[in-house]
Amino acid sequence: MNWQKQWIIGNWKMNGRQAQIGQFLQALAAKRPPESCLIGIALPSPFLANAKNTIDALGYLGAEDVSQYADDGAYTGEVSAQMLGDVGAQFALIGHSERRQYFAEANSILAQKIQNAHQAKLTPILCVGETAQERDDKQAFTVIKTQLAVLKDLALPHFAVAYEPIWAIGTGRVAQTEQIREMHQFIYETLLSFAKENANIRVLYGGSVNADNAAHILSIPKVDGALVGGASLKADSFAAIIQATLN
Ligand code: PGA
Repeated sequence: MNWQKQWIIGNWKMNGRQAQIGQFLQALAAKRPPESCLIGIALPSPFLANAKNTIDALGYLGAEDVSQYADDGAYTGEVSAQMLGDVGAQFALIGHSERRQYFAEANSILAQKIQNAHQAKLTPILCVGETAQERDDKQAFTVIKTQLAVLKDLALPHFAVAYEPIWAIGTGRVAQTEQIREMHQFIYETLLSFAKENANIRVLYGGSVNADNAAHILSIPKVDGALVGGASLKADSFAAIIQATLN
């Protein structure tokens, strides 16, 4: 992964079929996206192996999650970080708010997942974010600090975090410029307090990023890219967000 460029990462969640993903990748490649940013696409596990060759020409292939269990064994239904690496994944989303919500992923589990990803040579991208209630209660910074604490003792060489306010995910309601600026600044400061001096840091914003608002969001200080859900499912809108890194 390149730690200087902006990262535009698509998150397909539980969407897509093989043919659709193939068409999407072809359409994206045909637009010859600029090399000004790092492009990543996180796909459901069954589609990773087939997408690998096409994605290699465009950017990086990612998993949406990894198992908390590191080694092969009797864990029916689980997919390990090593398996994901074996079929070509290069990064993994960890702790997306949907996983925290539907699968009760707490910091102890997430620490295992981050470690497993790192050991399998997948770059973990830790997702953090507060609920609307927590923001209203002025708890946003406390919540994010607690979520980031999982990275404190893991001795990672680099840190990639996506700040995704839960109230902004899939709602069309983007956080305000000042809310993004101050939270990204806070995340940077927190990560620097954990990091070795030469650690690289990327802090992405996620939550209703689209072709119209991307250029503005990406211009906010300490925003190193975007994690894109809905707008990453169409080549046109995803390519427009990639283009926005040129502004
Ligand atoms: P959204 O999702 O862009 O559809 O809001 C972002 C995410 O959940 O990563």
